[in-house]
Amino acid sequence: DNHRPLYGKHILITAGPTHEPIDPVRYIANRSSGKQGYAIAAAAADAGAKVTLVSGPVNLPTPPGVTRVDVESAREMAAAVDAALPADAAIMVAAVADWRAAEAADKKIKKDGSGNVPPLALAENPDILATLAKSPKRPPLLIGFAAETNDVIAHAQAKLARKGCDWIIANDVAADPMGGDANRVHLVTASGVDSWDRLPKDAVARQIIAKVADALR
Ligand code: C5P
Repeated sequence: DNHRPLYGKHILITAGPTHEPIDPVRYIANRSSGKQGYAIAAAAADAGAKVTLVSGPVNLPTPPGVTRVDVESAREMAAAVDAALPADAAIMVAAVADWRAAEAADKKIKKDGSGNVPPLALAENPDILATLAKSPKRPPLLIGFAAETNDVIAHAQAKLARKGCDWIIANDVAADPMGGDANRVHLVTASGVDSWDRLPKDAVARQIIAKVADALR
């Protein structure tokens, strides 16, 4: 019905950062509050969807009606996404770390007191979105996010092609510092660009979910 346009649909959402351990007390991460992804999960549940929220470490309550799967690293997030399939749509909002420590130490790395720094070799993480785009289990609607500081639309169009997703929601993180409560976003698809006003994150979320419901109808 009109109030629950996503009734009967399963929506998979990733949110938050990933933490890539260097040793038991240190990690590599991207900056991410998780607020936009959590707002999208809440809006999808309000629209009647069954929602799986695969979340990196954040300080946010689970929205009502949402099934939350907590993970730390990108590889754990990739496995949790795979385990949550099939889905009618996937919205990948997480700020996944591109690299992890090639080998995490199992004991705390100690300073040696003489100014020597430990070498830190990196390994590339799986691209969860690009992998899902090529998977036989690819959801019919696959949406990525792009946080950009410049040439926002051009970068988003390139990312749409490179990742093989259906939509990229690009946000201008120069206009809205990360961790805030508002976003100015551009919805970039193969058929064009729709630039929205600067809005609170929950309003951005409702607008995204309305578009998803239209697309799945
Ligand atoms: O390449 P970039 O990190 O800018 O792409 C952002 C989009 O790709 C987001 O939707 C993010 O969730 C997704 N992503 C991913 N796995 C990665 C890196 C990014 O799913 N390893």
